[in-house]
Amino acid sequence: MEPIVELKNVTKVIKGRTIIDKISFQVNKGEVFGFLGPNGAGKTTTIRMIVGLMAITQGDITIGGSSIKTGFEDAVRHIGAIVENPEMYKFLTGYQNLIHYARMTTNVTKQKIAETVELVGLTDRIHDKVKTYSLGMRQRLGLAQCLLHEPQVLILDEPTNGLDPAGIREIRDYVRRLAREKDMAVIVSSHLLSEMEMMCDRIGIIQDGRLIDVQQIKEFVQASGTAFELEVTPAEKAAVILQQHYPEARPTYSRDGVTIALPKQEIPSLVKLLVDQEIHIFGIKEAGKTLEDRFLEVTGEKGAAGRG
Ligand SMILES: Nc1ncnc2c1ncn2[C@@H]1O[C@H](COP(=O)(O)OP(=O)(O)OP(=O)(O)O)[C@@H](O)[C@H]1O
Ligand SMILES: [Mg+2]
Repeated sequence: MEPIVELKNVTKVIKGRTIIDKISFQVNKGEVFGFLGPNGAGKTTTIRMIVGLMAITQGDITIGGSSIKTGFEDAVRHIGAIVENPEMYKFLTGYQNLIHYARMTTNVTKQKIAETVELVGLTDRIHDKVKTYSLGMRQRLGLAQCLLHEPQVLILDEPTNGLDPAGIREIRDYVRRLAREKDMAVIVSSHLLSEMEMMCDRIGIIQDGRLIDVQQIKEFVQASGTAFELEVTPAEKAAVILQQHYPEARPTYSRDGVTIALPKQEIPSLVKLLVDQEIHIFGIKEAGKTLEDRFLEVTGEKGAAGRG
């Protein structure tokens, strides 16, 4: 694994307030890194420092070995980013926007533009005016724009904000493809864990300006167990039994059954337990929503402890 982005004790103080507090992490080539945290945690601020839109108070960021402080141009040359809303001329077509942007960058051929447009799936609409685009299309145009100069690092701040499920899936697919096929390092921020789960290899959890956890997404998911919905009667009795045997799995019950979070390999013994106690089982379904719970757990515990 080859790190291409490196943050070392990055700190940002604005008007005496520490907004980002000694954040350190690395992102490797070919990896999708999710920057996850609730509103106001400091995701955008950190990203603004990585792309050089905001000065670092303390610490340093290197991109491709160049420091953003001492080798700014070399460092940002490697980056393609959408931080706030991508700047676009609405009265021009998507294509004209890309041409305009390409003129400001070096060595972007028409061939390259066509390829990029194809990659983001805008070929059919690229000659329409941007003002006629949906939000999702604008996002895709923004993505095309920041891919034109073939960056090694792609940074997207909340790329799926405002997109419908189909749009979200598309962004997710491009992101994964870019990492896999172009060996790009991708940093995406989000406050939605479920989304990060499908898109990222690793996640860093940020809260109150501190990085409180960095983990492989798989390990993070495993640690949280999986939520199962048990269609059982009587549900209340089942919940009591499960509570006795799996207190840490926090079973909850409703009219429809019981929800419980535990590792999948526990299911056979859980079934036996319930059957032995004459609970009727009509179905067991993976719900997989404990990831959000786990996120709240991690941010809740450490955040509360750290806030003081
Ligand atoms: N220019 C600024 N001046 C003062 N405070 C700022 C400035 N920029 C950000 N902040 C503060 O820094 C904190 C982090 O903000 P930031 O925008 O980085 O959060 P975020 O994680 O991106 O949140 P969101 O999910 O809402 O986008 C917030 O408390 C915000 O008010
Ligand atoms: Mg933000």
